[in-house]
Amino acid sequence: MNIKQVILKAFHDHPGRFISGEELSQTCGCSRTAVWKHIEELRKDGYEVEAVRKSGYRLLGAPDRLSAAEITAGLDTDRMGQHVIAHDEVVSTQPLAHEAAARGAKEGTLVLAELQTGGKGRLGRPWHSPKGTGIWMSLIIRPAIPLPKTPQMTLLTAVSVARAIREETGLPVKIKWPNDIFIGDKKVCGILTELNAESDRVNYLVIGIGLNANSVAEDFPEELARIATSLRIESGEPIKRARFIQQFCRIFEEEYDHYLAHGFARAKAEWEKHSYTIGRWVNVQTISQRLEGRAVGLDEEGVLMVEDQDGAIHKVYSADVNY
Ligand code: BTN
Repeated sequence: MNIKQVILKAFHDHPGRFISGEELSQTCGCSRTAVWKHIEELRKDGYEVEAVRKSGYRLLGAPDRLSAAEITAGLDTDRMGQHVIAHDEVVSTQPLAHEAAARGAKEGTLVLAELQTGGKGRLGRPWHSPKGTGIWMSLIIRPAIPLPKTPQMTLLTAVSVARAIREETGLPVKIKWPNDIFIGDKKVCGILTELNAESDRVNYLVIGIGLNANSVAEDFPEELARIATSLRIESGEPIKRARFIQQFCRIFEEEYDHYLAHGFARAKAEWEKHSYTIGRWVNVQTISQRLEGRAVGLDEEGVLMVEDQDGAIHKVYSADVNY
C-alpha cells in the first residue's frame, strides 16, 4: 500500500472521526509534513478532507471514482480485490486481465476501467460501456477444479452479484440462465467468463462483469433502452460504485471459499431460488440445435435441464435462451 492508500484506509477505519496528524504520521511511517502533502493530493483527487487545528483530519466525502486506493481502503477480504489495476479508458478489461494473469497476477486481481471503447459481451456481441456510469471489471481467479466444472464459476458469480445488489439496494433481482442479472424484464448486469487451460488443467479464469450502476435512461442508445436498466433507474438513487465492488468482493470470496470447500450445492440452490429461468417455457438455440421446453432446474454440474413436450430432459451447456 502507498501512503495515500494507508491514509484512506485509516479514514475508512475511523468513519466520521478526526485522526490527528501525529497518529497518521505514525500509521504511515512518514513525517506530518508528508501526511499534509498527501492529504493535499487526496483533495486534488476529489476527496473532501476537513482539517482542524488540534483535532487533525476528517474525511467528509469521497469521489465516485474507481481508483485502486478507493477500492482497497474499505475492503474486507483476503484475496478478492486486494490487487486492483484501474484504468480511465481501455478497449476492454478482458484482454488486459488475460495479460495480467499470464504475467502471474494473483488470484482476486481486479482490472477495471471507467470507460471501455470496445466492451465485449457474450457470443461476440458488443457491451455498451460509457464513461463513469457503470462497473466494468474483470476478475482473475485460479480455482483448482476440473475443466467441465468451470461453467459453475459463472453461476457462482451471478449468485454473488445478485446477492450484492439485493444487500446494497434491496432491489428484487433475478438471474437469467446462465449469466444475466435482471430487474423486472430488463437486464442490469452481464457476465462473460473466459478460460485459459491446458489439456484438463485450468490455469485461470477471467470473469468479466458489466453492471449498469448509475446510468440514467438517456445513457442507453435506443435499441438498449427497451431491454436494459440500471440500479439507479430502478432504485431512484445513485450507488457508490467503489463500495459496491467491495461488497461484491466480500460476497464472492465467501461463496467461492464455500464452493471450494463444500462444492456447488449451495450456489445451485441460491441460483435456483433467484432464477428468472426455472419454470418458464423457453426457446433454446445452441450451435447445432433448436429446442423448446420448460426449464426445470440445474443438474449437479450447473447445466440447465429443459423438459420438452414429450417429457424428455435435455441438458443445455451453452446456448442463447429466449422466453
Ligand atoms: C454479456 O452479458 O454479454 C456479458 C457482458 C460482459 C461485460 C463485461 S464489462 C467488463 C468486461 N470487459 C468486457 O469487455 N466485457 C466484460
